[in-house]
Amino acid sequence: MSSFPAYRPRRLRCGPGLRRLVREAALSRDDLIYPLFLVHGQGVRREILAMPGQYQLSIDQLPGEMAELAALGIPAVLLFGLPASKDAVGSENYDPEGIVQQGVRAIKACAPEMVVITDVCMCEYTDHGHCGILCEKPAHCRGKGLGNLCLDNDATLEYLTRVAVSHAEAGVDIVAPSDMMDGRVGAIRRALDAQGYDCVAILSYASKYASGFYGPFREAADSAPQLGDRSGYQMDIHNAREALREIELDIQEGADMIMVKPAFSYLDIIHRARQQFNRPLVAYSVSGEYSMIKAAAEKGWLDERRCALELLTAIKRAGADAIITYWAKDAVRWLEEA
Ligand code: PBG
Repeated sequence: MSSFPAYRPRRLRCGPGLRRLVREAALSRDDLIYPLFLVHGQGVRREILAMPGQYQLSIDQLPGEMAELAALGIPAVLLFGLPASKDAVGSENYDPEGIVQQGVRAIKACAPEMVVITDVCMCEYTDHGHCGILCEKPAHCRGKGLGNLCLDNDATLEYLTRVAVSHAEAGVDIVAPSDMMDGRVGAIRRALDAQGYDCVAILSYASKYASGFYGPFREAADSAPQLGDRSGYQMDIHNAREALREIELDIQEGADMIMVKPAFSYLDIIHRARQQFNRPLVAYSVSGEYSMIKAAAEKGWLDERRCALELLTAIKRAGADAIITYWAKDAVRWLEEA
């Protein structure tokens, strides 16, 4: 091995063409998935306070939104819905006239080429804001769970399968369960297949951490838990090997694509998942990653464009195939300018 002065790493850094030539990882518009928050009503385009530049949109806004995304060449969207009303089991979640079901149909009507992914979860739809069905805690579980309540994992599976099937009926391409109940990928796969939706893919939020970086999303999707937190079902931030077990299980249960979430504080998990599993790997650059750079940029402390591209490129370099990001549109524009 030659070393300095025979080898000078700076030689290949001294011009833009050279740097492009030896680049290892690059962000592309093909990798981007743009999240959308859908609300009932007419003509609604309401900016989310903690996420400047992101909006809650009514269904009539979708054709314009799709035209913009198609012009930018962004291949996929991820839909979240804010229901008209919430209840204990999140009934609107599996209603054929639910907000997400309407959204899927509207997008497929005006932009059939757009890949439509739906978040399958209960927290936006339940009055208690948890990602599953709550039940009275059995006596032998004292000291665990949420006060005298806990999440009924297996009862939740039945609801999640209904949600996934109703999204499939509406025409979704990919369902993305984000609830972190055990066994949900297998249950959803079986339910989809039983109804003839064998071509609907599952992107599983396989390793989803109980993260503080979801803060702004809970305003955007109105999904903050009304009691306790999600640490009884989302993953403990201290664990890495456990994430690999979660991913392995979801692949065994039939996940077509796997996800690591959040992205930027879990680059180690993305890297390890890339090395260990041969499935398309998606990373979710979550609301807090967006908001913290936005806020610092507003104060003049960080350069948004530079830092956002650095963050997204790091996620690619760590091994993600695709990235869910609120910067999707900006990133394409920035890449075009570069
Ligand atoms: C759950 C869900 C959440 C996010 C995506 N799906 C919130 C949570 O688990 O509390 C967060 C995404 C983000 O912060 O951008 N339905």
